[in-house]
Amino acid sequence: MESIATLNAATRATIARFGAEQTVLFLELLQSLDLPSRVGRFGHLASDASIETYVKAALSAAAFTAGAFVEGKLVGVVEVFETRANATAEVAFAVHADWRRHGFASALLDAAKRWAEASGVRVLSMVISPSNTPMRRLAERVGASIDIACDEICAEIAVAASYDMAA
Ligand SMILES: CC(C)(COP(=O)(O)OP(=O)(O)OC[C@H]1O[C@@H](n2cnc3c(N)ncnc32)[C@H](O)[C@@H]1OP(=O)(O)O)[C@@H](O)C(=O)NCCC(=O)NCCS
Repeated sequence: MESIATLNAATRATIARFGAEQTVLFLELLQSLDLPSRVGRFGHLASDASIETYVKAALSAAAFTAGAFVEGKLVGVVEVFETRANATAEVAFAVHADWRRHGFASALLDAAKRWAEASGVRVLSMVISPSNTPMRRLAERVGASIDIACDEICAEIAVAASYDMAA
């Protein structure tokens, strides 16, 4: 696996792109999510069995998957799926409960943005359940445009604009 970035010295975490070779670690991470986190990630109370099916499909369908690794353990993931919409891709995150608020999802978002920029994707979109305060706060913090429709929150992150702002 090729390392994309190293996070702070305290966690000694590495951000790296991964694929099917990490199926077991990816499955363990998603199955470790508690029920509210499963709703946050999947939009419903996904069972262990459905997560197993999901992981196999996701690893072949995703255009980009990257993880936060601490001493070989996968503690956070970002998945990016291309959509039919022009230059837009969907993005989803999961971070192990023991490793939240260490900036891992933010670092994974940065990795996804870099992939998007290199791939001609201009917008990363997310569907956020209304109860998912952590994900909504993260989206707001990175300047996502937020649209509340029916029972869902749609967040869009402009890839180029966010780099322009950081420049
Ligand atoms: C949402 C999630 C991915 C965030 O991961 P994380 O690694 O903890 O996020 P970060 O550490 O990068 O947080 C970045 C910022 O987001 C906001 N944030 C994150 N968690 C928060 C919380 N519990 N409450 C309020 N704000 C929060 C804060 O602004 C935070 O910055 P700060 O820690 O400096 O205040 C994680 O909580 C998770 O895996 N949840 C379950 C699965 C899920 O809901 N996935 C999203 C599907 S799209």
